[in-house]
Amino acid sequence: MGVGISLAGLASAVANQGGIGVISVTGLGFVHPPVNNVHFKVGNVLSLRKEIQTARAQTKGLIGVNILIALTDYGELAQTAWEEGIDFIFMGAGLPIQKPEAIPEETWKAILTKVVPIVSSDRAARIICRNWQKHYNMVPDAFVLEGPLAGGHLGFHKAHLELPEYQLERLLPEVIEAIKPFEEKYQKPISVIAAGGVYSGADIFKFLQLGAQGVQMATRFIATHECDAAEAFKQSIVDCKKEDLIIIDSPVGLPGRAMNNAFLQTVSKGLGQPTKCPWKCLQTCDFTKAPYCIAKALLSAHTGELDKGFVFSGANAYRIEKMTSVPELMDSLIVEYRSAADYFHKKQDWYKTKTS
Ligand SMILES: Cc1cc2nc3c(=O)[nH]c(=O)nc-3n(C[C@H](O)[C@H](O)[C@H](O)COP(=O)(O)O)c2cc1C
Repeated sequence: MGVGISLAGLASAVANQGGIGVISVTGLGFVHPPVNNVHFKVGNVLSLRKEIQTARAQTKGLIGVNILIALTDYGELAQTAWEEGIDFIFMGAGLPIQKPEAIPEETWKAILTKVVPIVSSDRAARIICRNWQKHYNMVPDAFVLEGPLAGGHLGFHKAHLELPEYQLERLLPEVIEAIKPFEEKYQKPISVIAAGGVYSGADIFKFLQLGAQGVQMATRFIATHECDAAEAFKQSIVDCKKEDLIIIDSPVGLPGRAMNNAFLQTVSKGLGQPTKCPWKCLQTCDFTKAPYCIAKALLSAHTGELDKGFVFSGANAYRIEKMTSVPELMDSLIVEYRSAADYFHKKQDWYKTKTS
């Protein structure tokens, strides 16, 4: 979760509980501005190294990074993460049709880091597999399949967000089917990780039953003591009501799910247009047309200045009632998962005795 919501603190706490902790790479050079006033791209690389090393010092568990393909320095950041021996690189906000240019081809093929593109359809998964097959004779290790209930940027047309055929439960079997020929050809499993609106242990059980090998959860982990955002950011998730959640048009060029506030209302009236851009952090952003600077807005939100920014959040944010710790949250998910599994198996046994 960027900017600065999931850093070494949250990622290592999750990894210590047996999950894969994910550090958001977006805007790291702004989150920890380097002392020598270096170019922000150099700052991003330095801060990423520091963040990965801090996480590693706090856990022996699995750590990944999330890098947006739309970032202008996506290649350098992917290379840095790989040099630091990161376990996973999750690639969002675009289709990683080819490897990051900064990483040499031989290295890419021999890479131990698991590379996991984030997709929202079977079509996207197929396009990536075909392209990697063509260019590198390889396929990804896994996909995150993000459905329309996710927080942040969404890989769907606004008009499709609520249609039944675009819900995660319907998309998951389609993606699993689409990657089967590639799994067979390369004789390796390609895991699918379901994301977007996964709230309880029962939800995790449901998506594993539908064929996912894991789930990615974001919003629930904002309301934890270990989350790296300011208290005001985290508390806004606890205070959130269903009607606060809206879909915005992000300057990234995608719709996004966020919590409505005075800042978003102001920029929706065209009152937040940037007059200059010293960074050009996003390939897809033209500051002369952007309604506001999303990097600045998300950075302000991360530091708790919610009047100058806004909070991205998943569709189930309003269900969160209190702040908790990562171990408590993980324990409750496990208890709920086991109880859903027990119920499912008892029901199956009952059905068998009835029909035998
Ligand atoms: C505050 C926030 C920031 C996010 N930032 C990113 C991001 O930088 N990159 C990305 O790929 N996904 C991002 N997401 C999406 C999440 O990684 C995740 O897939 C999704 O929100 C899962 O749904 P959930 O929030 O209902 O659990 C963000 C989500 C939230 C809530």
